Amino acid sequence: MREEAPVRWDEERRTWDVFGYEEVKTVLDRKEVFSSRVFRDGKSLFENGLLNLDPPKHTQMRDIVNKAFTPKAMKDWEPRIQAITNELLDAVEGKQEIDLVEQLSYPLPVLVIAEMLGVPAKDQRKFKDWSDQAVAGPANNSEEAKSEQLQKQQQVVGELYAYFKEIIELKKKEPADDIISVLLQASVNGESLTEEEIVGFCILLLVAGNETTTNLITNAIYTFLEYPEVYRQIKNEPDELLPAAIEEVLRFRSPVQASFRFVQEDVVLGGKELRAGEYVIAWMGAANRDEKQFQDAEQFVVPRKPNLHMAFGRGIHFCLGAPLARMEAEIVLKEWIRRYPDFRLSADFTLKPLESTFAYGIKELLLT
Ligand code: HEM
Repeated sequence: MREEAPVRWDEERRTWDVFGYEEVKTVLDRKEVFSSRVFRDGKSLFENGLLNLDPPKHTQMRDIVNKAFTPKAMKDWEPRIQAITNELLDAVEGKQEIDLVEQLSYPLPVLVIAEMLGVPAKDQRKFKDWSDQAVAGPANNSEEAKSEQLQKQQQVVGELYAYFKEIIELKKKEPADDIISVLLQASVNGESLTEEEIVGFCILLLVAGNETTTNLITNAIYTFLEYPEVYRQIKNEPDELLPAAIEEVLRFRSPVQASFRFVQEDVVLGGKELRAGEYVIAWMGAANRDEKQFQDAEQFVVPRKPNLHMAFGRGIHFCLGAPLARMEAEIVLKEWIRRYPDFRLSADFTLKPLESTFAYGIKELLLT
């Protein structure tokens, strides 16, 4: 499909699908043609959030939130991420079988972000429940289940809003070393974020950062099992090979498969004429397996040089949390390999892919 039609019209969805590496790159780079303002009817919670803004508003907001995501700020979290990883792994020590998703890759990013946001330890359980519910899919594919899930999600988001407002009041009185305190004080050219924007940003972090990092960690372990020879080398030289292995998992099994854009002016892409007002889905997951860009694209190759994948996007919306996700994955995988170098798939394991068009991962990973 990618080779025959790097860009194609999907009549059912009434959107353009973009699969080719060069074409996806163009969509992500040409922000004046391919707008991120995909919600325009005032109904989406994320309409005015970072991910769905264009310059100049996007530039202003990104400059401010960048202050909470500096490389130094990320580095400072390293010992806490290691400690949380150890606690989660200590809790399953000695068990015959564990579900990596439930016990490690799922709770870790939520607990880390809770601490980074300054959620007090006593509230972290409640916070994790909200966060789970905010991203939970419908119980099944029926219209009833979908509408029930939407209602539930709206309720949860309302609760999260109220909760973050409380935290903001607390941090105004007692600023500490956390993202909310930094954002309350940060300003660029005299502009700072409103409280509404801070709350919206916190909720965006939960949605953008949790399930994605979970899937990166789980996809890595699953891929190591599938490629034992590559894993043997990684295991022998984790310091040298793990960072490259993580990049290759991001390319090979991209946790975020695609992103939406809105066409602002008529444009030709991959030989097709796109019209202003149409929607585009840039399939980074497909682009990341484009043979024109990656030799042996269907193989898991570590180290792959160069590895210019687009799993974190590109350009002005390049993932703000990429350094954090990479660091979390490296710490967790290193600790996992240290404790369980010869882990195996459990006999009870069956492959249950996530029922999602845009998220790539599996629901559980039973290991012994
Ligand atoms: C943006 C992927 C983890 C926060 C993005 C985009 C991608 C992405 C593809 C660009 C979307 C677009 O251009 O429309 C991922 C993957 C992750 C990950 C694969 C994990 C493996 C995180 C984490 C955080 C985070 C841990 C924060 C805690 C964000 C934010 C944006 C973003 C705030 C919007 C940036 C902007 O619009 O300027 N991410 N992400 N992400 N991500 Fe991530």
